[in-house]
Amino acid sequence: YVTYRAIKPKQAINPCIKKEVAKVVDIANIEDLGEKTAYCRCWRSEKFPYCDGAHGKHNRETGDNVGPVVIKRNTA
Ligand code: FES
Repeated sequence: YVTYRAIKPKQAINPCIKKEVAKVVDIANIEDLGEKTAYCRCWRSEKFPYCDGAHGKHNRETGDNVGPVVIKRNTA
């Protein structure tokens, strides 16, 4: 992997989510997660911190390749 710092050291990632706070932090209780939960990493979701599929449009428009992190429960 190439580090983020090596690519664009001074560019904001977050275009519009909770700009009134100094740092966007979301906490999820593991007990509250369902079998599968997708968290947004593109910062474009209307349901942030959850993924709503907005990364697809972002990727098409910019040539980017971002997607969610998916937390999945093992079902034995
Ligand atoms: Fe942001 Fe899916 S909407 S990763």
